[in-house]
Amino acid sequence: MLLLLFVVMLLPVSSAQAEGKKGLLVYASVYGSTIETAYWIKAIIGHENLLDVKSLDQVITIDPYDYVIIGSLTRNEGPVKGIYEFIDANRAKLATKEVAYYLTCGDSDETMVLKIPGKDAHLIGGRNYLMEPIKKYPEIKPVAIGGFGGRQVMPTLGMKDEIQIWLVGKLAKEGAAWEGLDIWESLVVGRVEAFANEVRTKILGIGPRENIEELRGYWTSLQPASLKDPSKVKFKPKPAFEHHSTEKIYFARSRARADLVLGDTLLKQWAKDNGVDLKEQVKNSFNIYYHATKSYGGDPITTHIVIATFPDEPGNLQIAFRCWDKPDVRKGVEADITKAEELLWADGRKID
Ligand SMILES: Cc1cc2nc3c(=O)[nH]c(=O)nc-3n(C[C@H](O)[C@H](O)[C@H](O)COP(=O)(O)O)c2cc1C
Repeated sequence: MLLLLFVVMLLPVSSAQAEGKKGLLVYASVYGSTIETAYWIKAIIGHENLLDVKSLDQVITIDPYDYVIIGSLTRNEGPVKGIYEFIDANRAKLATKEVAYYLTCGDSDETMVLKIPGKDAHLIGGRNYLMEPIKKYPEIKPVAIGGFGGRQVMPTLGMKDEIQIWLVGKLAKEGAAWEGLDIWESLVVGRVEAFANEVRTKILGIGPRENIEELRGYWTSLQPASLKDPSKVKFKPKPAFEHHSTEKIYFARSRARADLVLGDTLLKQWAKDNGVDLKEQVKNSFNIYYHATKSYGGDPITTHIVIATFPDEPGNLQIAFRCWDKPDVRKGVEADITKAEELLWADGRKID
């Protein structure tokens, strides 16, 4: 009997004890949006569970904590320097703890491919920005990652920031969503909630938060999108279906009831049937980026394709096609994109 009691005492940590895990959420923020998400996540985790929320400057050690959530604003397509310095300083210890990364950012569209002068076309937006730190510190394996979108309050941007944002707007081939707004938001509420629920489930073992929508007040405010025009809105979700044909781009976005594996299989089938050379460029747990190249009587043309899944849209696959060649040479591309969409949407998979 005594022996049995001794064995029970040595058993691994029970779920009741796991609930006692101590967390640190450390953040970097310039204009405050990342701080708001930090306290929102803390509220979803629940005040009965210990989660210290601290700016980078307030942390001298991570020793007392069982898990660490690292949140950053985005600059130049990634977390800021201070976040890298924090990880460098605590690298060995972080590798022994449970870690989660999140970002607030302007571009929350993880099917987004950016093509600007002097750089190869590349994936941007949301969790794509976290791939660099994840690759840089392979021994730190995040339990959860989130790319939420964020907020920009135009009249309060510093002058250097204002110039940079203006320049980005000029280069944006698909238009700048913040044009004409004083406050622009891209944050997808469901992503913050899915991230915090992942921490609750995977780290704390306490499952998703009930009545989670009651906590959205940590983010929302009554301030208008534009002081001059009351009809403007701060947040406009991207439509499920978009087809743009301009001088600069042919762009098509849609959704299908599918996962990455099915999307990949169908695209490979389409490529084979239509003489398209489909080459995978990047594969993450949540998206795949391809170059699809074919000659349409002249020089070869490359279409950029991304398929992606999102935590706030379980069971859906977003599919985006981008071709930056001029309208007169890309007619064949547009026809091939239509065929790809028909295949992806077949058998009732299309989501309206
Ligand atoms: C100068 C500047 C550069 C930015 N660069 C990016 C970027 O490369 N990618 C992106 O998605 N968002 C970018 N953003 C948007 C911010 O990351 C976003 O607004 C964030 O929510 C701000 O967080 P904060 O309020 O905590 O500072 C940039 C914003 C500014 C002002």
